[in-house]
Amino acid sequence: MTTANTAKPDRVVIFDTTLRDGEQCPGATMTYEEKLEVADCLDALGVDIIEAGFPIASDGDFEAVSAISKRVQNATIAGLARAINADIDRAGEAVRQAKRGRIHTFVSTSPIHLEYQMRKSQAEVLEIIAATVARARNLVDDVEWSAMDATRTPIDYLCQCVDAAIKAGATTINLPDTVGYATPQEYFEMFRAVRERVANADQAIFSTHCHNDLGLAVANSLAALNAGARQIECTINGIGERAGNAALEEIVMAIRTRADVLPYETGIDTAMLSRASRLVSAVTNFPVQYNKAIVGRNAFAHESGIHQDGLLKYQQTYEIMTPESVGVAKTSLVMGKHSGRNAFRTKLREMGFELGENAFEDAFNRFKALADRKKHIYDEDLEALVDHEIAHAHDRMKVAALTVIAGTVGPQAATLTLDVDGTPSTVQAQGNGPVDATFNAIKMLIPHSARLELYQVHAVTEGTDAQAEVSVRLEEDGRVVTGRGADTDTMVASAKAYVAALNKLMVKRQKVAQAQQL
Ligand code: KIV
Ligand code: ZN
Repeated sequence: MTTANTAKPDRVVIFDTTLRDGEQCPGATMTYEEKLEVADCLDALGVDIIEAGFPIASDGDFEAVSAISKRVQNATIAGLARAINADIDRAGEAVRQAKRGRIHTFVSTSPIHLEYQMRKSQAEVLEIIAATVARARNLVDDVEWSAMDATRTPIDYLCQCVDAAIKAGATTINLPDTVGYATPQEYFEMFRAVRERVANADQAIFSTHCHNDLGLAVANSLAALNAGARQIECTINGIGERAGNAALEEIVMAIRTRADVLPYETGIDTAMLSRASRLVSAVTNFPVQYNKAIVGRNAFAHESGIHQDGLLKYQQTYEIMTPESVGVAKTSLVMGKHSGRNAFRTKLREMGFELGENAFEDAFNRFKALADRKKHIYDEDLEALVDHEIAHAHDRMKVAALTVIAGTVGPQAATLTLDVDGTPSTVQAQGNGPVDATFNAIKMLIPHSARLELYQVHAVTEGTDAQAEVSVRLEEDGRVVTGRGADTDTMVASAKAYVAALNKLMVKRQKVAQAQQL
């Protein structure tokens, strides 16, 4: 006879670093307003801690962390700080107005970082840990300390560092796999050893922070839970440095779906996962890969006849979780040109979008224009349209009009009107094909030296009247930005994507200029 396990599952703290580790990855820059919007969404999603930024990095980061601290209702707000007094003071100042504020301070502990990057001895780093954690504790009660490159740090020394941090007052100890090198077994063993060997380990919560260089970030994070970690650091869509961080949606759904072997719980409202994924994708202009677990467009699509047959007979034959549990609505024919404001607003609410009055009006006008050109409007069309509204509400440059002459006899030509800070300007340009002509017109209006690294087109829905979604990646002085645009006209979508990337580049230039003044 088996006895039901009635013990309450352990609560795992979800620490979201989309706005910090996520935002610092190439091309994912967010504007101030976008950061606030993402923070609101993360709070509604139910994350426990929002790492809102790196306050010393720029005035923009400091302002965003301060504003998020003031407005967020539930989550703890963390600000990142190196093990430097000025960083810690700035982070403390940025989270001062949060209901619950945390300083997250870190220092490298591995021999390779100590020798080549920091040029410090192990003894010196131990002293730095004690002093900086104590300084942070004087400013806030909630201090997280991270051992950067923990997975390549000798275990004896790592234990000494953790011991020093806890003695100095750290309440959370994070052991990152900074370079994405560990395997699940190794990561498990590291947590087990540190928790067993450090005398005061029970005075802190242990945290995971995994990068995905070998595609093991989620597996490593879950392995650490089994060794006693109770906080997981992760990002929406897994965005982050290089190959990214552990994906929040994958961790949360693994815990929920495999409760039999992962006896934990989180505070996440999983029905909001899809919405959060779309928002982050829209504001970073990072498309979500089609076959991405949980939030990819194909994650719940069944193509094979055998699978479809099984699903129709009994859903669980081929589905381990329902699309509804992550907030994916079934594709449906939704609206047409006769739909009014009310129906449009209700539909957006059903899909999880809540727009401010101005954004709603703009979205409604764009919807009407789309309905005039396109007979069937699907949920995906509306998503593309609203994502565009969210992502570009604060852009300084906007595509106002475009006419393109294409065809077999070149050169092809484009007449483009751009609004820059509300003032329209028009030019004509020629090119080797309509895309080239359009991009040349943009360059005439906004001269720049950025290099086009990627130009990609795909269809949002099916049919010849589908909206085209275009991604453009630009590179300038090592800075990479991605822009996305959607329209039933591929050339208009291309122009929007290019201009979106330029808008991001401007934000990035400002940030770099501010950081250089420090
Ligand atoms: O990957 C890492 O080690 C980090 C630390 C700052 C926590 O992001
Ligand atoms: Zn990281």
